[in-house]
This record gives sequence, C-alpha cells and structure tokens, in this order.
Amino acid sequence: MADSHATKTPAASPPRGRSRPASNAPSLAADVRVRLMGAPDLAAYKALRDLMLAAHPEAYTSDAETELRRPPETYLVRVAGAADGGWPFTFTAWCGEWMCGAITCERDERVKVRHIAHIVGMMVHPDARGRGTGRALLDACIDLARRRRGTELLTLSVTSGGAEAIRLYEGAGFVRYGRLERAIRIGTRYHHKDLMALRLETAT
Ligand SMILES: CC(C)(COP(=O)(O)OP(=O)(O)OC[C@H]1O[C@@H](n2cnc3c(N)ncnc32)[C@H](O)[C@@H]1OP(=O)(O)O)[C@@H](O)C(=O)NCCC(=O)NCCS
Repeated sequence: MADSHATKTPAASPPRGRSRPASNAPSLAADVRVRLMGAPDLAAYKALRDLMLAAHPEAYTSDAETELRRPPETYLVRVAGAADGGWPFTFTAWCGEWMCGAITCERDERVKVRHIAHIVGMMVHPDARGRGTGRALLDACIDLARRRRGTELLTLSVTSGGAEAIRLYEGAGFVRYGRLERAIRIGTRYHHKDLMALRLETAT
C-alpha cells in the first residue's frame, strides 16, 4: 500500500464535497497515496494534526491548545525510524497535493517489551473520509510493523463510542482486551478508552 512518491507542499485547503461511497469495499480511492513521512512533511503534518485535535478533542489524548504551540520540528521524532528500519515511523496519506491523513507506530525500546508496538495519532481529514484512507494507513502501518524484526503485538487505545474508529480497527483484526474508565477528562466530561490489540505472526 505504501509508495515513495515525492514530497509535495500541501495546498492551503483541500478539495471539498467528498462523501462516503455507496460501496462497502474498503479499497483506497484512486487519487489517494500512502507513503512514509519524512522531515520535509512536518509542516503539513502539524497543520493536519492541529486541525484534527481541535475538531475531535474526545478522540485524542493530546489537547489542541498545548499542541498548537509546538513547532513542526518537534515531530521529527515521529519519523526517526522510517529510514533505518527502526522506530517510530509515520505513514501519511496524500489526496493529490495535500496531506489528508496520518498514523504513527512507536515502540518502547526496553528489552522486555520491545516485542510490542503501539499505534498512535490515527487521523483522516473530514473531507477524505469514507474512501479507504484510514484503512490504507492502518494496513501500511501493520505491514511495516510486521516486517520490523521481533514485533509480535500491536496495541492502541480508542475512545469508547468512537464507532468509525472502532469499526476500522476491528475490521483490521484488532480485538478489545480492556477498557480504561475515565481515561481522559475534557472540562467536566470524562471519556473511556477501549484498549485493543492485534497479534502479528512472528517474523522468522
Ligand atoms: C476513524 C477514521 C480514521 C476513519 O478514516 P476513514 O478514512 O474514513 O476510514 P475508511 O474509509 O478507510 O474506512 C475504513 C473502515 O472504517 C469504518 N468506518 C469508516 N467510516 C465509517 C462511518 N462513517 N461509519 C461507520 N464505520 C466507518 C468502517 O469499518 C470502514 O470499513 P468499510 O468501508 O469496509 O465499512 C476517521 O474517521 C477519523 O480520523 N476520525 C476522527 C479521529 C479519530 O477518531 N481517530 C482515531 C483515534 S484512535
């Protein structure tokens, strides 16, 4: 699913008016490309992330106000393992000229837990949804994690009641193994998090 198209500067605003196709097939729309993120993409990544954190506060643990103050280069850590076969790595989706989605996979380097990787920061711009973008990002992430030597388990947390995201993860084989009640608090409201995991075949 991943490819190596050249990095492009994102347009100021995405094309509008896209809707979920009638078909249930999760195949990726023809004009969407998924590839690993590199350092030149960090400004576009920050723009997308800031937009998503503000639009969906309940879906993410980071808060929009704090993250807005972060310079783009602080996200360099999210591409650290892309080139050298390590961790973390981030896949991005491109709808023509603009970055319309992203997902990051990271790993705790401590010896006893380095067989487990974690998916964070799944996001698809509202105008790019329902076209297979999220599934393509997730598949690319699972595929590369599987090829990183020694990875046996992928985990993630998703806000309970986030139907689109939960269906997406279940569709890829993730199974809920627990729930953290009151995992995040936004003002006076609490949201629970479903904890999900996917077993990977052990690489030989
Ligand atoms: C969740 C999200 C990433 C899905 O992205 P997407 O590009 O729309 O997903 P896809 O088009 O690839 O759809 C993949 C699967 O997700 C589920 N899904 C997507 N949109 C859905 C909808 N509107 N209703 C129900 N299920 C939906 C389905 O299972 C779908 O598979 P199908 O097409 O075979 O039915 C996106 O909606 C998003 O970014 N939401 C806001 C932030 C968020 O919740 N992030 C997750 C944090 S853990």
